[in-house]
Amino acid sequence: MSQAGIIQRAADGGLRIEDVALDAIAQQFGTPCYVYSRAALAAAYAGYREALATHGVADRALVCYAVKANSNLGILSVFARLGAGFDIVSGGELARVLAAGGDPRKIVFSGVGKSREEMRAALDAGILCFNVESASELETLDAVAGAMDKRAPVSLRVNPNVDPKTHPYISTGLKTAKFGIPFEDALALYRRARDLPNLEIHGIDCHIGSQLLDPAPAAEAAAKILGLVDALAAEGIVLSHIDVGGGMGIRYRDEAAPTAAEYLAPLLQVLAGRNEKLLFEPGRSLVGNAGLLLTRVEVLKHGEEKNFAVVDAAMNDLARPALYDAWHDIVPVRVPVKKLGAGGTAKVAAKRYEIVGPICESGDFLGHDRDLDLAEGDLLAILSAGAYGMAMSSNYNTRPRAAEVLVDGANIHLVRRREEIAQLFALESVLP
Ligand code: LLP
Repeated sequence: MSQAGIIQRAADGGLRIEDVALDAIAQQFGTPCYVYSRAALAAAYAGYREALATHGVADRALVCYAVKANSNLGILSVFARLGAGFDIVSGGELARVLAAGGDPRKIVFSGVGKSREEMRAALDAGILCFNVESASELETLDAVAGAMDKRAPVSLRVNPNVDPKTHPYISTGLKTAKFGIPFEDALALYRRARDLPNLEIHGIDCHIGSQLLDPAPAAEAAAKILGLVDALAAEGIVLSHIDVGGGMGIRYRDEAAPTAAEYLAPLLQVLAGRNEKLLFEPGRSLVGNAGLLLTRVEVLKHGEEKNFAVVDAAMNDLARPALYDAWHDIVPVRVPVKKLGAGGTAKVAAKRYEIVGPICESGDFLGHDRDLDLAEGDLLAILSAGAYGMAMSSNYNTRPRAAEVLVDGANIHLVRRREEIAQLFALESVLP
């Protein structure tokens, strides 16, 4: 199981997250329901901090949680209290971080298409830095800041043209991607930034992709970036920070996912002996394995070719399988004690199932070919769903979005109520 230690099967055959039984959560809050572990969030963050401390750079390093992975206020408040910074990509995420008690001076603002309104809001809040992704954005930001009589702190997101060797939809560091400033253009754009009156050059950043299992491409990107930093210094453009983005992969199935220490070691080796502040933008690796999606089997359909288990969660709740053919472990919440084998694993007379949602699309699946012993009404836990799960959910088929619960020891916090159907069309109107 990819979340060993965080969720465990108790002697009574039921799955627990920290000190709480998952079936008790389902009973109290219904399904589908996202469930997160505060201890797991804190442990993942500590993994980064400890690795940074080991390399002696903790004092000048800032871990900016990539809010897009999971923007629930409860989760953001956990990271804010741990002293984290935040990587945002919209005015909406800025508002969330501020509402959750995040420190605006620890916010970096990424994204290829920031609007003037978003720039103004971020300048008003006093964020740490804008990660600028194009020449056009640089000019606009200068104008917006000038009109507010402010100077905007900027970093240029440089595209290092390094292959992250991950899924094509989440690769961002190749020349062909829409992201960042081409490596060859960066020097000229820094010179332009220096000449613009309402900008203050702070740093440089890059982010080459997500779910990276091998740290080598990230270290290679950092090395390329450093070459640029030194070339800039030679021209008198001295940077105060280097932001190496996010991207560390996690284990969903049986991948050999690195620990934060393993992932950061080659990067920090490249960055050793420098004076700049170091910024990181991890998303998935801080929340992915801290969360699961709880769902109930509604209908079993046994056929000649396939067996289907129709559950009450669907692609609108968890889009990753439909979108990326992503694999999430799916386990029964309760296994009768007589069917428990060694180590608490289920020894069952399993059938092979397609685990699907009720949405009218063949792409609406959560897992293919899963060997499970199921009855209608059973609860299932879809694991490693803390990142890009709820954050990418929708109301497709007019389905209210799931509730979200944050477990802290024996305490259960409902951090997002289940949506009600009337709320889903409250902003619409019939014709007069
Ligand atoms: N910084 C920037 C500029 C990013 O674009 C991203 C993610 C991150 C940081 C955080 O990357 P992470 O540490 O989470 O890998 N929806 C996809 C993942 C999309 C990632 C987009 N950018 C998925 O479900 O796999």
